[in-house]
Amino acid sequence: MLPRGLRQLSGLRRGTSSLGIRPPYLPRPSQSRGLAGTLPELTKDRYPHVKRGDYATLDGNHLKFFTGLLGENRVLTDPSECEGYNVDWIKNVRGYSQCVLKPKTTEEVSKILSFCNEHRIAVCPQGGNTGLVGGSVPVFDEVVLSTALMNEIISTDDTSGVLVCQAGCILETLDSHLAPHGLMMPLDLGAKGSCHIGGNVATNAGGLRLLRYGNLQGSVLGLEAVKANGEVLDCLSTLKKDNTGYHLKHLFIGSEGTLGVVTKVAIQCPPKPKSVNLAFLGLNSFDNVLKVVKKAKHELGEILSSCEMMDALTMDLVVSHLKLKCPLIEYPFYMLIETQGSNQNHDEEKIDRFLEVAMEEKLVLDGTATNEVSKMKNIWDIRERITEALNHDGYVFKYDISLPIENFYSLVPAMAERLGSDAKRVCGYGHLGDGNLHLNITVKEFTQDVLKKIEPFVYEFTSKLRGSISAEHGIGFRKPKYMHYSKSPASIQLMKQLKALMDPRNILNPYKVLP
Ligand code: FAD
Ligand code: MLT
Ligand code: ZN
Repeated sequence: MLPRGLRQLSGLRRGTSSLGIRPPYLPRPSQSRGLAGTLPELTKDRYPHVKRGDYATLDGNHLKFFTGLLGENRVLTDPSECEGYNVDWIKNVRGYSQCVLKPKTTEEVSKILSFCNEHRIAVCPQGGNTGLVGGSVPVFDEVVLSTALMNEIISTDDTSGVLVCQAGCILETLDSHLAPHGLMMPLDLGAKGSCHIGGNVATNAGGLRLLRYGNLQGSVLGLEAVKANGEVLDCLSTLKKDNTGYHLKHLFIGSEGTLGVVTKVAIQCPPKPKSVNLAFLGLNSFDNVLKVVKKAKHELGEILSSCEMMDALTMDLVVSHLKLKCPLIEYPFYMLIETQGSNQNHDEEKIDRFLEVAMEEKLVLDGTATNEVSKMKNIWDIRERITEALNHDGYVFKYDISLPIENFYSLVPAMAERLGSDAKRVCGYGHLGDGNLHLNITVKEFTQDVLKKIEPFVYEFTSKLRGSISAEHGIGFRKPKYMHYSKSPASIQLMKQLKALMDPRNILNPYKVLP
C-alpha cells in the first residue's frame, strides 16, 4: 500500500504544492475587480427582440406598501445598492430593477406576491445570484425578491437525517451546521459559499457528487412554496415515502422561480463519510479518460463519490488567472476521482489498487493521491474555481450539456475548429461521471457575430447526439428559444399550460424558461 498523506504515484515531489486558498464566499458581481468588474450591457439593449411585458411601473404607492410591510431597511431602492442584484455572476446579463425586497418570513413573501399579482408587478425571485443562465436577475425592471434574510434552520434530526430550513440558508452554512450531527448536505458545488438552498432547489442543482448522492429531486423530501397569487402551499413533508396523489413538490424543483417562490425545504441528508480519498490524475487521451471512468465505476463501486475531468486549456485558466499550482506537469486531460466511505484502510487499499492498475496499463500517466484535508482542498480548488477563472479571461459563452459518455468531449474540438481565431479559448471540463460537459468559450468581448457562430450550432450538435441542452444549470433567460432541441412540442405545451394555471398573470420571473 502507498504511504498516507500525499501519496506519490510517479515523479511527483511529495507535498510540494502550495496552492491558493478559495475565498470564503463568492463576491457579488458588482464587488468583483479587474476584467470581472466591468458591467455588461443592459439586457434590453443586447437582446432588443425581447420586449417588456405589460407590467406596472413601480410608483410611490407600491413602495409605500412594501416599506409598510418590511420596513425601510428591507426595501432597497438606492441604485448602487440594487446594482449587485441586477447583474448575474458571469456578467452575461443586466437588468435595471430599482427595488429589492428582503422578506424574512413566508407570510411576508405571501403578502408581497399577493400585492404584486393584484397590481401586475413583475417579480424576479433571487437566492445567492450564482445562477449561470441569466435566470436570477431582472431582464427589465422586475422587482427583486431576495431570500437573503430567510436563513433560519428550523430542525435537524440526527436519526432520520432530515434537515428543515428556510430557503435563504447558504449551502455551505448548512453543511457546517450538519457536521457536528455527523451529517452532510447531499450536494456540493463551487458556489456553495454563496448559493442558497432555495436557489439550489429552484434550479435542481447538480454539482460535484451527484454521481453518488443523486439529484435534488431525490433528496428533497418536501417543501413549502408561495404561489403567484400569494397562496401558501404546504408540501413540507419530512417522510421518505409518501405516495398520496401527485408529487406537487416536483413542480417547484427546477422551475427556476417561474411557478412559485420556495420558502422552506426538508432535505434528506446522508451521513458524513469517515474516510475520504482524492486522486488527481494526468492522462494523454480522451479514450483513456473513458477507460478510467469505466474502471473507477467498476473497481471503486459503492465508495466512488466523484469523477470529474478538465482539459489542458482549463487547467491553464486556473494557473494563469488565479495562480493556483497544478500538482502535475502538463497533460491533455486531468481527472479527479474521490472516494467517500466508512473505513479508511479499506477505502485506501481499494483506491490505491485501482490507481496502480490504471498506471500499469498506462491509462494514467501520472498522478497524486491524498487523504489530508488541506491537500484535498487544494486539489478541489483547482476544479471548483474554474468558473471564477473564466470570468477573468473575457466574456464567457457558457454551455452545460448532457451527452452520451462516448461523445462527452467531441463538442469541444468541433467548436474550437468552427470558431478558429474568433475565440480566445474553447475549453471543456465537467461532471464526467454523470455525462455532463461544461463547454466554455471566452472572447475579448461579446459580439452578435460570434454568438451566431456558436448558437444554434451547439444545440444542433447536442440534439443530434440525443443529449440535453441543459444538464444542470437550467434554461433561465439564455436558453428558452432552444428548449425544443431537448423537449417535444407536447412537453413544452404542457409546461405552458402549467405556467398559465399557476401564474395566470405571468408575474413570476417573466421572459425566463418558457419559449
Ligand atoms: P440564484 O442564482 O439566485 O437563482 C437561480 C434561479 O432560481 C433563478 O431563476 C431564480 O429566480 C430562482 N430562485 C432562486 N431562489 C428561489 C426561490 N427561493 N424560489 C423560487 N425560485 C428561486 N450549478 C450546478 O448545478 N452545479 C454546479 O456544480 C455548479 N457550480 C457552480 C459554481 C460556481 C462558481 C457558480 C458561480 C455557479 C455554479 N452553479 C452550479 C450554478 C448555481 O450555483 C446553481 O444554479 C445554484 O443552485 C443557484 O443558487 P442561487 O441561490 O445562487 O440561485
Ligand atoms: C461547475 O461544474 O464548475 C459548474 O457547473 C459551473 C460551471 O459550469 O462553470
Ligand atoms: Zn457543473
